[in-house]
Amino acid sequence: MRVRLLDLSEQYRALADEIRAATDEVLASQRFILGPKLGEFEKAAAEYCGAPHAVGVSSGTDALLAVLMALEIGLGDAVITTVYSFFATGGCIARVGATPVFIDIEPDTYNISAAALKRYIDKYCHQVEGKLVNENRQTITALVPAHLFGLCCDMNEMLGVAREHNFLLIEDAAQAIGAEFPLEKRAAKAGTMGDAGCFSFYPSKNLGAAGDAGLIMCHNEQFAERLRVCRQHGMEARYQHQFIGGNFRLDELQAAILKVKLPYLDNWSAARREAAKFYTSEFRRVGLDQKIKLPVEPYAQTGLTNHHIYHQYVIRSTRRDDLREHLSKHEIETAIYYPLALHEQPCFEYLGYKSGDFPEAERAARESLALPMYPEISREAQQYVINCVAECFQ
Ligand SMILES: Cc1ncc(COP(=O)(O)O)c(C=O)c1O
Repeated sequence: MRVRLLDLSEQYRALADEIRAATDEVLASQRFILGPKLGEFEKAAAEYCGAPHAVGVSSGTDALLAVLMALEIGLGDAVITTVYSFFATGGCIARVGATPVFIDIEPDTYNISAAALKRYIDKYCHQVEGKLVNENRQTITALVPAHLFGLCCDMNEMLGVAREHNFLLIEDAAQAIGAEFPLEKRAAKAGTMGDAGCFSFYPSKNLGAAGDAGLIMCHNEQFAERLRVCRQHGMEARYQHQFIGGNFRLDELQAAILKVKLPYLDNWSAARREAAKFYTSEFRRVGLDQKIKLPVEPYAQTGLTNHHIYHQYVIRSTRRDDLREHLSKHEIETAIYYPLALHEQPCFEYLGYKSGDFPEAERAARESLALPMYPEISREAQQYVINCVAECFQ
């Protein structure tokens, strides 16, 4: 039996008529850039997440980049982020000329560790005229935590640190649209808790476009307007450029498709959660939780529905590579997110980190493995995956 890591063909078949009608409407209108579908999708997405403002952009990467550019973060600034994420999380910080400062992760959630963050600040930073400055005399202007695999970081901790030290909090919510967090005892959605939240609608995301697409959420009207200007090369009046932005627009066809798909998102996330529950309970039933480490659900008891949206179902094992090979032989696709922590990427060598600096992320990079996960995955396919994992550890 062949089991794909992700297979959205069934999902498309169910929505094909609706999607085609929406794209036909755009094609008939011949309005492809900054048309009505964009505004409609932004409004629907903002409402869904409970954020006052949403600004559609060309990708999750461009969401991060546009936020950093609009905030004028650059040379002389340091931006703290997780060392274990997709490249864009750190890459965008470097692209604007700021210095990424990496922080290790929690081994069970793979998210940035609040304890490690506080240790870094205590050890290397001090306050100068109300601003936090590090050992290289760079001003810490922002913190960019990523909500990895569909589980929010501990945002109570992140916000506490950002407020205490007076820097901005930009959420990388690329993998977590709809995920909820018990924020100071109320439910809040990923990407709406910080000063800005960045989303990706890369096709494999829980809410995926038919190509690249992204979105930024924020609370401040003026900042939302600045982001709208930023996504058009910093242009306010026609051909009058107030500051340097980019071509970061979300195109009309993608907005139309995303608007069709958005109302189904919660059902898809619920189906992913059910699939995760099946994996976890079956792995436990056959005693495999002694051999592999299963995903954790730290907010499951808080009454939140979308406490985890399982963008990925990630297990870990010291025999990860054997397991992956075994599953591959049995036609089961898996993926490694991520084989290298960010400080191990050749392009970040200039930052001067060395192997051993982030032991938890380095270990996760050696041990983590994403198993097939999508809303429509059959229990039969999952059972086959479970049996093959069991066989490998016999
Ligand atoms: C955590 C994280 N940040 C940023 C991005 C960038 O998003 P995009 O691929 O839409 O540019 C991704 C997408 O894979 C991601 O997973």
